[in-house]
Amino acid sequence: MKTIRVLAPAKLNLTLDILGLRPDGYHELDMLMQAVSLCDSIEIAADTGGARALICEDPAGNPLPDIPADERNLAWRAADLFFQKTGIPDSGLSIRIVKRIPAQAGLAGGSADAAAVLRGLNALCGKPLRPKPLSELGADCGSDVPFCIRGGTARVRGRGERVRPVRLDPVQHYVIVKPPFGISTAALYAASDTHVPARRPDTDALLRCLRQGDAENAGAQLCNVFEPLAVQLHPEIGQIKEALLACGACGAQMTGSGSAVFGLFSGPDAAKRACESLKGGENAVFYAHSV
Ligand code: C5P
Repeated sequence: MKTIRVLAPAKLNLTLDILGLRPDGYHELDMLMQAVSLCDSIEIAADTGGARALICEDPAGNPLPDIPADERNLAWRAADLFFQKTGIPDSGLSIRIVKRIPAQAGLAGGSADAAAVLRGLNALCGKPLRPKPLSELGADCGSDVPFCIRGGTARVRGRGERVRPVRLDPVQHYVIVKPPFGISTAALYAASDTHVPARRPDTDALLRCLRQGDAENAGAQLCNVFEPLAVQLHPEIGQIKEALLACGACGAQMTGSGSAVFGLFSGPDAAKRACESLKGGENAVFYAHSV
């Protein structure tokens, strides 16, 4: 039996622009994505000689009945695709996912797990897939998976499969707030087809601010074209933004198709103070830094 432990970081969309509808039904995107320290941890055991086993639990070891632990889980599907693509026989696989990333949040929790399984299995099996085919396999799992395989900071285009790493030395500090409701990704994409955004991101301007460690001006450049649509559906999103700004965030924005909202802070102390003052209500609140 071979085993490996892999981390699965959540992602934030620092910018998200929709450039149009593609002939394949997906949307053409231009995004700045950032991996953060909020992460799931995954243990993979291969060659177990037994049937496939997938366990999802919280950090205290309690089972998570709302997360499917079978072929409906993207991590399971990633493993199937890996064995199909490499031709390596599946001689028993056990995957244990300790979940910290909230689901239906726009934080790519499921995609991060799938990416971690692909990276983990590739490492366990002696790296049969080079980065490009591994990323292509990721795209077959879901649009966010290629970024999650790469991690760090990246400009992401296409439907999510064109990932260009961006060097960003200053560490950024965030507070992530996840309300108790989720938002349907497909419904937001559909709404975006008939909506002209009043404001669109300037990702190059944001990158200039972040490279200078200028969180104050970077905050003003955060932009996600999904956000006004989500606020129409759930005014709570706007209220969470206001609360983050009132706690000292330099900028606040929904990530992906929501429902989580993050605030960008000038340093770890300011972020951790805000995190403590926002905890205690019905929202889940996390401090995270860029990784
Ligand atoms: O690729 P993934 O399964 O994560 O996408 C979920 C849904 O989001 C798709 O079914 C599609 O409705 C929408 N989507 C899109 N354009 C993208 C990515 C996702 O329309 N670039």
